[in-house]
Amino acid sequence: MDPRLEPFAARTGNRSHTVVVGLQFGDEGKGQIVDLMAARHDVVVRFNGGANAGHTVRLPDGAGGETRIATHLLPSGVLTPDRLNVVAHGVVVDPEQLLSEIDALAEHGIELGASLCVSERAMLVAPWHKRADALLEKAIVAAGGLSLGTTGRGIGPAYADRAYRVSALRLGDLVAPDLESHLRSVLDLHNTILAALAARVGEPFEPFDAAEWAPRLAHWGERLRPHLTDTVALLHEADAKGLRILFEGANAALLDVDLGTWPFVTSSHTTALGVPSGAGVPCAWVNRVIGVAKAYTSRVGEGPFETELSGELADNLRQRGGEFGTTTGRPRRIGWLDLVSVGTMARTVGVTELAITGLGPLAGLPQVCCRVPGQAELAEFAGWPDGLDAFAAYDELPAPLQAYLATIEQHAAPVRWICLGRRRDQVLRR
Ligand code: IMP
Repeated sequence: MDPRLEPFAARTGNRSHTVVVGLQFGDEGKGQIVDLMAARHDVVVRFNGGANAGHTVRLPDGAGGETRIATHLLPSGVLTPDRLNVVAHGVVVDPEQLLSEIDALAEHGIELGASLCVSERAMLVAPWHKRADALLEKAIVAAGGLSLGTTGRGIGPAYADRAYRVSALRLGDLVAPDLESHLRSVLDLHNTILAALAARVGEPFEPFDAAEWAPRLAHWGERLRPHLTDTVALLHEADAKGLRILFEGANAALLDVDLGTWPFVTSSHTTALGVPSGAGVPCAWVNRVIGVAKAYTSRVGEGPFETELSGELADNLRQRGGEFGTTTGRPRRIGWLDLVSVGTMARTVGVTELAITGLGPLAGLPQVCCRVPGQAELAEFAGWPDGLDAFAAYDELPAPLQAYLATIEQHAAPVRWICLGRRRDQVLRR
């Protein structure tokens, strides 16, 4: 038995694992649902993406206010005591970022220690990947191609490295004795490509030097060593012990590398379909899937956006919803809810229940709209008043809001969670 599983009492009964994924373009507020679900699970797993994701969790500070904690790579379960947190091999890991998140939590009195396990097979994201991300965007635009507006976190180049294989390093390589010679060959390839890209866009380029970077990577590796492990074996042992596992999706369904709005997507499998390969677990484990959808839509970066709004209404919703990127600070594009794409995604990836967020920013509008299947015009709903946090039960909610939720349910999946605000205690169950 893995010693990290020893503190957990064995459970009997049916297997009870859950997946939480966003159904739009990210920033649906998944962190809030993951945070709530973490209380009902023993293990919380990240299985995709990297530091392009950003979860902000708000915790009551005990004095009537709230403390905001943002994580980019750590599973949201780190904020719930006594959980085991796993960063599986499907995640691309920037060790400097991960270590800074571990340190930031320690400053809040949360010491992760043995409660954080990171796959030794996870792909490394290094400064050369971030440089490639930036140069690729510029070079493709210079060549007359499409700008994706990436987060610049090196995500695409790191996943590309995984596919190239010979130019990639995995986290386990950072603690291997041959790191410097391995890095030398890897950097030779990266430097060759980066120099050509930099020349293409007329930027200076200083090659990455293996003698300089090997000690830095080794230092990060040493700091991460206590967390590095075979997370596949760990998850299978956890399941055998009857523990409940929560899989936390990063980014969102419409950004999925295969199913999203290609090519304006991220580079990983962002839905429940990414869990088996990204965490190394059987498909049969994925039978409860919570899809999180915001009651309106936001998108960062380029790409199609059927229900996009502009002008005062968009500005107003952006401000009310705090729609500025957690990772990049960019103002998010804003639009109405698109139930054509949300419903298609929910069915495609097997969503079994929905959590609806973002109702508060819509409150007070005279009218709310959404796109529904089989209708060229947007469906229109009467608005609902401000002050949603006063409601404690679904049946008490204003009738127009109930009608809106019923439409969502009709076109997507059963609505089981209604987030009236962003705090833990502002979520209604249904
Ligand atoms: P990348 O993931 O940095 O390669 O960016 C590709 C596209 O996905 C860009 O349009 C990003 O803005 C978008 N994106 C990636 N991750 C997230 C996320 O977690 N929330 C919102 N947008 C994201």
